Amino acid sequence: MQNWSQLFATRADRMVASEIRELLKVLDQPEMISFAGGIPDPALFPAEEFKAAYQELFEQDDHQAALQYSVSEGYKPLRKWISGRMALQGIACSEDNILITSGAQQALDYLGKLFLSAGDTALVGWPTYLGALQAFNAYEPAYQRLDAHGNRSVKDYQAKAKSSGGTVKFAYASTDFANPTGQTLTLHERKGILDLAEQLDIAVIEDAPYQCLRFEGKALPSLLELDIARSGDIEATRTIYCGSFSKTLSPGLRLGWVCAATPVIHQMVLIKQAADLNSSTINQMVMTKVAESCFDEHVEKICVVYKERRDHMIAALASHMPEGVTWSRPEGGMFIWVELPENMDAAAILKTSLEVANVAFVPGHAFFADRSGRNCMRLNFTSCGPDKIETGISRLGRLLADLISSGSVT
Ligand SMILES: Cc1ncc(COP(=O)(O)O)c(C=O)c1O
Repeated sequence: MQNWSQLFATRADRMVASEIRELLKVLDQPEMISFAGGIPDPALFPAEEFKAAYQELFEQDDHQAALQYSVSEGYKPLRKWISGRMALQGIACSEDNILITSGAQQALDYLGKLFLSAGDTALVGWPTYLGALQAFNAYEPAYQRLDAHGNRSVKDYQAKAKSSGGTVKFAYASTDFANPTGQTLTLHERKGILDLAEQLDIAVIEDAPYQCLRFEGKALPSLLELDIARSGDIEATRTIYCGSFSKTLSPGLRLGWVCAATPVIHQMVLIKQAADLNSSTINQMVMTKVAESCFDEHVEKICVVYKERRDHMIAALASHMPEGVTWSRPEGGMFIWVELPENMDAAAILKTSLEVANVAFVPGHAFFADRSGRNCMRLNFTSCGPDKIETGISRLGRLLADLISSGSVT
């Protein structure tokens, strides 16, 4: 049999199958309640609007264009709609500052490709989005913990990056309702990231797929907005904003975008040309119609439902979790971050939970570049209704209480 691994590039060494994915293969069992996925509730997709938009497109005279290749930058009316939305958020830009990508995930991959030579350093949260680590890993970087409070010296970051064989290239941060913690960065932290990036002279990648899913509280300016306020113009900024339609309208059409200074957009267009030429033309056209017709109403509608589910989950955690367990209270998004007593291992508990309690979650260590955070877990609150949330959290609470009281913490 062919020894494939000797043929694969060294970067393939960093692409390892997740043991969590293996464990979570049992999710389709009937009794299982899953808080594991980071997915929207499919019952809330604007299916009728999408259906009407596809139909309308085929009734147009120029419908062949929808089935054709298209420009790598993306469908102009969609880029215009997005730049208009960005402007409403305080980010003055034009469609030339927008690249359409196949989800924010593709943008992260392209940014890894653009910035990281093997041995370069990416600054990331501790924890951070698992998919960002997976995307960046292919480019063989080193990671350092991003500290938004100015507690580490620039020299310290640089010396460590040098010892890893490269330089610091970017800081990656999710500003609102982060995956996995649900945490929103304070204004002080946002400014701290930009200060650090300025001192290190690096790029900032702002990953913002959950930004519109705010249930309460006042929205804070994005990193890109703050950067524009400092630099005077988007063309002078160092921040690259990644947006997505996945968490608002639909992840199935695979559409996201990058908003940044034009030199970054131009370079990413070259990467896109080499990678997949263009994101689905027909989906971009349909997304434009649906976004134009119902984006705000739809987001308002799903936020009402998701807020209720967050409240149900927080109430259920308060009722059923044993002492020593704490959790975050996000103002939006899709996730609650749970911390167990220090000596507990959420990965081992997941195994038991799938067998005994029929409840799934994602253990915390998956989100740490150094695989720490073993006593943490991520719970998704958007994909189950209130009854399942109550039943699932009560089962999980009972399991954790049993493990703690029997002293059989792993
Ligand atoms: C923080 C974060 N960034 C990016 C993505 C990828 O989203 P998309 O579906 O737009 O590729 C996700 C998806 O879960 C995410 O949570």
